[in-house]
Formats: sequence, structure tokens, C-alpha cells
Amino acid sequence: MKLNNLKLKDQIEKPGGKLGVLIPGIGGAVSTTFIAGVELVRKGLAEPIGSLTQVGTIRLGKRFEYRTPFIKDFVPLHSVDDLVFGGWDLYEANAYEAALYAKVLSREHLESIKGFLAGIKPMRAVFDRRFVRNLDGTYVKPGQNLRQHVDALKEDIVKFKEANGLQNCIMIWCGSTEVYLKSEDIHTAPEKFYEALEQNDSRIPPSMLYALAALESGIPFINGAPNLTVDTPAMLELANRNKVPIAGKDFKTGQTLMKTILAPGLKARMLGLEGWYSTNILGNRDGLVLDDKDSFKTKEESKLSVLEYILQPQLYPTLYKNYYHKVTINYYPPRGDNKEGWDCIDIFGWLGYPMQIKVDFQCRDSILAAPLILDLVLLTDLAQRVGMDGIQEWLSFYFKSPLHKEGLYPEHDLFIQLMKLKNTLRYLMGEEQITHFGLDYYMNNAGSA
Ligand SMILES: NC(=O)c1ccc[n+]([C@@H]2O[C@H](COP(=O)([O-])OP(=O)(O)OC[C@H]3O[C@@H](n4cnc5c(N)ncnc54)[C@H](O)[C@@H]3O)[C@@H](O)[C@H]2O)c1
Repeated sequence: MKLNNLKLKDQIEKPGGKLGVLIPGIGGAVSTTFIAGVELVRKGLAEPIGSLTQVGTIRLGKRFEYRTPFIKDFVPLHSVDDLVFGGWDLYEANAYEAALYAKVLSREHLESIKGFLAGIKPMRAVFDRRFVRNLDGTYVKPGQNLRQHVDALKEDIVKFKEANGLQNCIMIWCGSTEVYLKSEDIHTAPEKFYEALEQNDSRIPPSMLYALAALESGIPFINGAPNLTVDTPAMLELANRNKVPIAGKDFKTGQTLMKTILAPGLKARMLGLEGWYSTNILGNRDGLVLDDKDSFKTKEESKLSVLEYILQPQLYPTLYKNYYHKVTINYYPPRGDNKEGWDCIDIFGWLGYPMQIKVDFQCRDSILAAPLILDLVLLTDLAQRVGMDGIQEWLSFYFKSPLHKEGLYPEHDLFIQLMKLKNTLRYLMGEEQITHFGLDYYMNNAGSA
């Protein structure tokens, strides 16, 4: 991808027709909350709170210009009315039944769109229990041949596009967290990966098969879970070759969202950290999957890394050299999707005097995740039309473990991530970058800057 090859401003193709949203894990709590939410918004029965593209504005130009359009009016995004949903799950339940099971949205909300939801039926999943041990659904594609699975997924995609008259689709993984995998030799180059695929290598999880089906079909892939999936040199190279954007990984919602709001503040004030103890109780199917230690390890890696990058202990040894950071998730069925996350934060200030901060976030996991999916789908589609293939680092705002180029460190600070996202939109639309420098207002004659 070259900067001067991008289509900017008036060159950006307008979003035409419908946009397909393909979701592995379409029967999950997050997916059904997203799909039902979009339909409720379309019907005027609820507001898309939490979605930057739908309710957020963007400042343009100087502060005395007072130009702050809504993002959805500023950039050529698809409207929520254009979205069409399809996907795969290992449970046969339609979206209405699955949403009832998830117990996130009220009966009143679900009954008002029952017909629409009941019409969304999953396609059979590509599933392998070695990678998600605590689920036992049987609505799966037969056989063990990996290439045949990829081809079957590609056929599903073609049929979905034909049935709905679609030109363009986005695939977003909302499936379960798979067991922890490290990038190995087979992931270093497309040829090695293809060779391993032909040999049905046991180190290739289902999420990579979906991703491959998407990339080979020219469809952008977004990873909402912490799985390795497209975070390998082989997949990145395939995304570049096929001119497809990829984004990930692991939606930044509850506790990590709080962490990436608080930690930059502590660091900005040069307050030290002695320890950060984070624990969660969660009772949905995601909690059940994470009750397996190897799936939890994938999540743990994703959750632990944020502080290290935000606090930069190598630059500030006096403040952050030896802080203790612990994250746990406990499966507790009575709590369902309404996760409770506690943080005990031991900090120190002037002359080393200790202080404590306690955070008790009684959140709703899927309510926090759904608007991120909407934004990611709309913005990744924009990226595709602009010609931005490969890693979409400007979408780091939405992820716990943002994909990043080798040799760069990931940016975790929520406020830097937001600035990066908005400046990218300004750039694409031919507007001046906003650095918040501001001295020009005072040093030049008023109005000249
Ligand atoms: N809710 C949040 O705040 C949040 C934040 C970050 C990441 N996530 C991740 O998002 C994902 C979904 O979360 P959830 O709460 O909806 O979980 P969930 O368990 O309710 O849904 C996951 C769905 O994926 C399906 N699935 C698993 N493997 C599959 C496969 N190979 N093919 C097709 N379907 C498959 C399961 O059957 C299930 O219906 C999880 O990986 C979770 O860790 C959620």
C-alpha cells in the first residue's frame, strides 16, 4: 500500500447498494446484540449509543471555525440501512433464539423484531474442538480436510452474496476465543502456510480457515477475539497480495477499556505504579470458554500487554520498573453477560507516598462490544474503497491488542488511538490534521492561522 495510491476525497467511490456482514460466531451474545441493535436502530426503536460513526462528531479546521460535522456525514460510509447479515455457528439456533439464550437484550426489544431475527439462520460452522474445548455444538461441516473446509466457506460466501444481491462484504470474527497459539514456522510465509494447509497441519485453527476464505474471496477480515488468526506474516502477506484490509484483535470493551483510559492519565501526571490487580466474574458462554486454561491464556496475553506499552517502564524505571500486574477471569453463571470487573490499583506520588484507586465496573459485555462491531464494519469497508490494504492500525481504538507493523510498538492509549482515527479520516477527506498545537492562535494575528 502506498500513500499516494490512495483514493482521497472525491475519488473515494460512494458506498453503493447493500453491504454484507459475515460473522463466524453469529449465534453468540456479541453478534446477536449487534444484529438486533442495528435492526432496532433502523426501526427507530433505540439509539446507537457507543458508536463513534453514528453519534460521534469530528472537528475540522481551526477552533474559531466551529465546523464539527457528524462523522457519518463527513465520510462516505454505508448507512445502517444497507447492512445485511449472515454467518456461521456450531449451534443451529436462529438469531432470535440465540439472542434469547444470550439474555442480553430485553424480551420487549427482541419481540419487536422477532420476525427479522428469526429469519437469520446460521450456516454450518467449521469447528475443531481441540481449539475450543468447552463447546460441543454439532451444527458443523463434515470431514477434516482443511482445504475442503476453506472451499466450503468460500462457497457459502458466494451463495450469500448471490442470495442478497451483494457486491461487497466484510467478515468479522465474533466466534469463541481459541486456545493459545504462537506464530510458528508455518505462519511465516503464504507458501509455508499453504503447504501446511494441504497437509492438514494440526496447528491451523478454524479461525484461520475463515480468514483465508475471506482473503481469497477479496473480503476484509476483522478479528474480534484475541486469537492469532490474521496476526501472522503469512496472513499479512496474503492480505496485501489480495488487496484486502485486515484489522484486530480482541474488542476493547470492559476492563481493558478502563485500563487504557486510566493508565495514560496516571502516566501523564508522572504517578508511579506498584501494582494493578484486575479480576472479573462473567457467566455467559464466553466465560465458559475462557474457563479452559488454554483459551484463557490467549485472553490473558491480550489483556496483560496494554500496561507495559502505555507505561513504558524502560523510559520511566523510577515509576514503573517493577509493578505487579495480574488479570483473572472467573466463570460465574449467575452473572450472565453482565460482567463485573474489579481493579485494585496501588499507585505512589510525591516522595513515594502510596495511594489506592478501586474501580468496580458493573458492565454489560455485549452492550459495550456491539457498537464497536458496527463502527469496524463501516470503517473497514471505507478502507477497502480507499485502497488501504493490510493492517489497519488506525482502527487500534477498537482493540485490546492492535495489529501493528513489525518493528513498531502498538499504540494502546485510547486518546492517542482516537486522535489517530480522526486524523486518518481528516487525511482521507483532504482536511488539515489536528495536532492540538494551538500556539498559532496566540502568536499570529488573530484569524490568520
Ligand atoms: N463481549 C465483549 O466485551 C468482548 C470483548 C472482547 C472480545 N470478545 C470476544 O468476542 C467473542 C464473542 O464473544 P461472545 O460473548 O459473543 O461469546 P459467545 O460464546 O456468546 O459467542 C461465540 C459464538 O461463537 C461460536 N463459535 C465458536 N467457534 C466457532 C467456529 N469455529 N465457527 C463458527 N462459530 C463458532 C460459538 O458457538 C458461539 O455461539 C469471544 O471470542 C470473546 O472473547 C468479546
